[in-house]
Amino acid sequence: MSHPVLVTGSAGFIGFHTTLRLLERGETVVGIDNLNSYYDPALKQARLDQLLVHPSYRHHTLDLADASGVAAVFAEHHPKRIVHLGAQAGVRYSLEAPGTYVSSNVTGFLSIIEGARAAGCEHLVYASTSSAYGANGKLPFAPSDGANHPLTLYAATKIANEAMAHSYAHLFGIPLTGLRFFTVYGPWGRPDMALFKFTRAILKDEPIDVYGEGRMSRDFTYVDDIVTGIVAALDQPATVNPAWDATAPDPSTSGVAPWRILNLGAGQPVPLMRYIEVLEEKLGRKAKLNLMPMQEGDVVNTEADVSATLAAIGYAPSTPVEEGVGRFVDWYCNFYREN
Ligand SMILES: NC(=O)c1ccc[n+]([C@@H]2O[C@H](COP(=O)([O-])OP(=O)(O)OC[C@H]3O[C@@H](n4cnc5c(N)ncnc54)[C@H](O)[C@@H]3O)[C@@H](O)[C@H]2O)c1
Repeated sequence: MSHPVLVTGSAGFIGFHTTLRLLERGETVVGIDNLNSYYDPALKQARLDQLLVHPSYRHHTLDLADASGVAAVFAEHHPKRIVHLGAQAGVRYSLEAPGTYVSSNVTGFLSIIEGARAAGCEHLVYASTSSAYGANGKLPFAPSDGANHPLTLYAATKIANEAMAHSYAHLFGIPLTGLRFFTVYGPWGRPDMALFKFTRAILKDEPIDVYGEGRMSRDFTYVDDIVTGIVAALDQPATVNPAWDATAPDPSTSGVAPWRILNLGAGQPVPLMRYIEVLEEKLGRKAKLNLMPMQEGDVVNTEADVSATLAAIGYAPSTPVEEGVGRFVDWYCNFYREN
């Protein structure tokens, strides 16, 4: 029998979709999630309920920062492949609750890479973020440009993960791939993210807060495309890059460790106002706009350069926002029965 895949954050938005995809292709999946109350735990439980009906899914409700608890999960299941998505997400909340980010994202990450070391892990794929690009204004964002100027502690913890990953890949030969996700949206999405908040408000005929006075663009990426990228990356472990030059080091690969950083984005930035327009079309209602200034820690534009991801793992995202937003609206209306 093949070893199970460990997915952390399995009751989360992306973790849920990833777990389903892995189960659908016949994998056994062990999930870890503490179902914390950063947003409505009932939504996390509803996702988890969908996974628990599957006979090949095992769940552990556990805090990632609990090193001995995580070690026990590794000792019980011996996962050789890991998809680490459990983290305190959200750019803005990191200004309010910095300690949570260090606990879940840094201490939690250490628990997972220590587990991977003990288990003789064949590949560990983990979530990083487009926020890592921070003050970098060179568009599109490419991992080979590096990411050294984070604007929030959230981004800083994710960059810390990338650095911790390099050290463990080097010291212990564990292949590690960091995936920088760009604004992921879709069914079962997060209530703290724009699409969810906008949909809820528009259906209640309430105004929506539009930051940057709407003059922003995002590389909105449909969740199925992200999951396809995660699974493709998982199947093709990171290797040492023989062409890497230590005197002019490429920040996205390594000559001394099986380690790499890849973007997972649509590669197609969409103006925020166009995103809202598509949502209005799908809902059949007009939004009342409350134009607001930029928020602290936010960047104006994001755009993913996905050429290296295509070359490394054959990743080619395919879902336009017109399709993806429609699928979100269908899910939302069905799940909350507000239509
Ligand atoms: N959604 C996006 O647009 C986006 C963009 C960039 C990066 N990411 C990253 O992708 C990953 C998944 O994000 P998501 O959108 O699915 O978020 P999510 O909040 O829906 O999922 C994260 C899950 O991890 C769990 N979790 C958090 N801290 C934990 C802890 N200490 N112990 C155990 N479980 C814990 C949460 O309960 C949650 O279910 C995260 O690492 C996030 O930082 C997401």
